[in-house]
Amino acid sequence: MIGIFDSGVGGMTVARAIEKELPHCRLVYFGDLARTPYGSKSAETIRKYAVENSEFLLKKGARLIIVACNSAASVASDLLRDKFPVPVFEVITPAIRQVWQTSKIGRIGIIGTRATITSRIYEEKIKEQRKDFQVFSQPCPLLVPLVEEGWLNKRETKMIIRRYLHPLKLKNIDTLVLGCTHYPLLKKLIQPRMGRRVRVIDSSRALAGELAVFLEKNPELAKSLSSAGENEYYVSDITEAARATAERIFGRRINLSLP
Ligand code: DGL
Repeated sequence: MIGIFDSGVGGMTVARAIEKELPHCRLVYFGDLARTPYGSKSAETIRKYAVENSEFLLKKGARLIIVACNSAASVASDLLRDKFPVPVFEVITPAIRQVWQTSKIGRIGIIGTRATITSRIYEEKIKEQRKDFQVFSQPCPLLVPLVEEGWLNKRETKMIIRRYLHPLKLKNIDTLVLGCTHYPLLKKLIQPRMGRRVRVIDSSRALAGELAVFLEKNPELAKSLSSAGENEYYVSDITEAARATAERIFGRRINLSLP
């Protein structure tokens, strides 16, 4: 099984992308709704939660872990790689590879939660290979609650997006990374705001593509990830809003269980 965790249901955008790319793999998902949001918590607390979430997924039979939360990936990926004897994937590295591959003028915008932006992880990693690239970051703390409220096409959401993206527009970026699990659900508002010349990178798709390539090269592991049975979706608290967001992401009803 592939184990995926996020601070809530936003990481289901990643689960959905993996389901499409690797339909034969079985997934076990954990959304830490009781302790969400992670994006406004300290790095230390997020690390503790990330370890606990991974332990839960391993107990459920995961042979590979995906950190489908940018905030957790920003501060806990190395720790999880050191601690657990399974491959750990996260949403940041594949998005950065796409940045390196596709940006023509090296002016990159990053949007994410406060935890992700404060960690400066995107900036550091992008510069590991391209010191010449310029990175402009913008925390967008109001977007997660708007998505969770289902305000995906409201005038107020458009106004807030316009406000957040304005400084990035002034920087003439050619690439914008959606550095948060919830933002793919707002892509239809973000892309037109930035204009057609800006490439908007969605980490969930980038990750699913890289995972497929990795599994092709590791057929034994790939075999251990596919087994009979349904995908399992656990959350540490069940709310109506979570059910609705999950349904919006998958386009079908998702059976949420408590651990
Ligand atoms: N999953 C988080 C992320 O991608 C967003 C929600 C939260 O702050 O917990 O950063």
